[in-house]
Amino acid sequence: MIFADRVSRIKSSTTLEMTNQAAELRAAGVEVLSLLAGEPDFPTPEHIIAAARQAMDEGYTRYTPTAGIPQLRNAAATKLSRDNKVETGPDQIIVSNGSKHSMYNACLTLFQQGDEVIIFTPYYVSFPELVHLAHATPIFVDTDPEHGFEPRFNELEAKINSRTKGIIMNSPSNPTGGVWNREAVEQTIQLARRHDLWLLSDESYEALSYDQPFESPAAVVPGYKKILTFQSCSKTYAMTGWRIGYMAGPKEVVAAMTKMQGQSTTCPNSISQMAAIAALIGDQSMVAEHRAAYKRRRGLMVERLSRIPFLSCRNPGGAFYVFLNVSGLFGKTVNSSSHQAGNRQLRTPRDVTEFILDQARVATVSGEGFGDQEHIRLSFAVSDEDIITAVDCIRAAVANVN
Ligand SMILES: Cc1ncc(COP(=O)(O)O)c(C=O)c1O
Repeated sequence: MIFADRVSRIKSSTTLEMTNQAAELRAAGVEVLSLLAGEPDFPTPEHIIAAARQAMDEGYTRYTPTAGIPQLRNAAATKLSRDNKVETGPDQIIVSNGSKHSMYNACLTLFQQGDEVIIFTPYYVSFPELVHLAHATPIFVDTDPEHGFEPRFNELEAKINSRTKGIIMNSPSNPTGGVWNREAVEQTIQLARRHDLWLLSDESYEALSYDQPFESPAAVVPGYKKILTFQSCSKTYAMTGWRIGYMAGPKEVVAAMTKMQGQSTTCPNSISQMAAIAALIGDQSMVAEHRAAYKRRRGLMVERLSRIPFLSCRNPGGAFYVFLNVSGLFGKTVNSSSHQAGNRQLRTPRDVTEFILDQARVATVSGEGFGDQEHIRLSFAVSDEDIITAVDCIRAAVANVN
């Protein structure tokens, strides 16, 4: 069948491949532990569910204003001021079906053919594809693992030219867990300012910074008007399936994005919007509780991984991923497996994830889909017990490489 070009221009999700392989094994009766999760393993807090229930009981089941109901835009403004020192008003906020949807609307609104958009490697898988969907070109800039995966600024400067229209940043980062320090954020904004670029800040993991308070770029340099702040209820409030995220930025951008959204999804889900109000301005105690749990799990995972030869990782400053350097295994030979006949040499992160799935029965994500050639991603949004078992199984498998 012949489809429009844009379908072939974008890639599908990389985690899908591993999810499918793990599912095949499970179907064959093999127990597989998954460290693929890109979402909290906690349930959505009860007071948020109660608000949704109440909304349904009260018949709150119709279309809402396209950019979100005023109470929710107000709640988002209150939350941004309270937690992030980002001072904004409801007319500077648009609510969408998750922060990815907000980012999609923003890319379609701001970028077009001939434009270049800077993306830092390793990147969240959707960033290049969203830029492609806008017919613009992603330009990749390397980051420094030694320094929270902050940009290599020489390279960043060198890649900015008259076609550059924007920079997409994501701290805390998926997949690296890197959290940029204030200086790196400031330097990036100064560069954006000097070249008159949009700065799109994906703050989906803003509540999950473990070693330093998270600082929103819009609060670090409040004077720069071309910063767009993307936040989400997904990770902060364990609400991935509710699909509520929002963007704060200049009124004109909000108006243009609202026009786009009005012709695609009409509005975000009415019931989820009521739940999101309870999330953003209701009891916040679980945010700190979840953060403390993830922080403990991070310690557990990193400490146990550090005992395995050939592998190395840093303490991720945020999010719930360990980005494990597996290049020490490249060139090693592993025994025959059910998937691959004969002995084989490990050469890529994908080889390592397949080897780990095959011999440790643990599903992880290879770095290639994030634009990386040395790492694999392990999620610690799983129980302590699963972390311990999974890492022990990986250690046992690695002990057998030659
Ligand atoms: C960096 C990043 N941005 C955006 C998203 C999507 O979030 P949402 O559920 O708000 O669309 C994710 C989800 O994994 C993510 O990791």
